[in-house]
Amino acid sequence: MDKDVLDHYNSPEGAQSYTRKFEKHLSERINNRHEQRLLQRLVERISEETPFDLALDLPCGYGRLMPLLRRHARRVVEGDWSFHLLRIARENQRADPSVEAADGYVRATALAMPFRERAFDLVLSVRLCHHIREHAERLIYVRELLRISNQWVVFTYFDYHSLKNLLREARRKFSGKRPKWTLRASEVAGIADEMGFEVVHSIPLSRLFSGHRYVALRRKQSQG
Ligand SMILES: C[S@@+](CC[C@H](N)C(=O)[O-])C[C@H]1O[C@@H](n2cnc3c(N)ncnc32)[C@H](O)[C@@H]1O
Repeated sequence: MDKDVLDHYNSPEGAQSYTRKFEKHLSERINNRHEQRLLQRLVERISEETPFDLALDLPCGYGRLMPLLRRHARRVVEGDWSFHLLRIARENQRADPSVEAADGYVRATALAMPFRERAFDLVLSVRLCHHIREHAERLIYVRELLRISNQWVVFTYFDYHSLKNLLREARRKFSGKRPKWTLRASEVAGIADEMGFEVVHSIPLSRLFSGHRYVALRRKQSQG
């Protein structure tokens, strides 16, 4: 895990700054709307209009995706490593009469989740993988998501083969920028297979402007 990133989210200032990220600029508001629409359609497709019984949103950040998840799950647990963001999520949700607050708030690291195997029907994990510096830890993270899901996992990763990443890689000799912390679709599919899952949907956030990809993985029936 990148210590600077972690320290940032886990500080009061960093937590506040992330809380306002999607409101500050018009472009961020548009990105947020676009992303939520994509996720909404994805969750509608996988839920087949039957709400999940128990869902986990980790990392939840300030609870950006909670209202969406609430519409598709009877019970929701919010989790994050940052105490400050968890507190902000809980306060926002308890103060908002239009959304039912989460059923639990848990401080947890995604690299060693404090949950038993197959604990949740849906595990949602958005915009964390690309913050994990070590490749081996990114793979551990994906395994942890799958381990604790009984049915579905939806998560995002920065795709090595995205146009954005390939251009960055091509320019890196001159720009001196660090490589992005990516995964390859083949790695995700390999771990899925090893853990008894299959990749059912894999959708880029934007083919041109973003390297992030949303994937939905389902536990194979025969594993039940
Ligand atoms: C970019 S935010 C995404 C939050 C939320 N999923 C969203 O899309 O708005 C990244 C989040 O990851 C959390 N985080 C960082 N490292 C973590 C770890 N090892 N385990 C759990 N959460 C972590 C941060 O505290 C922060 O809330």
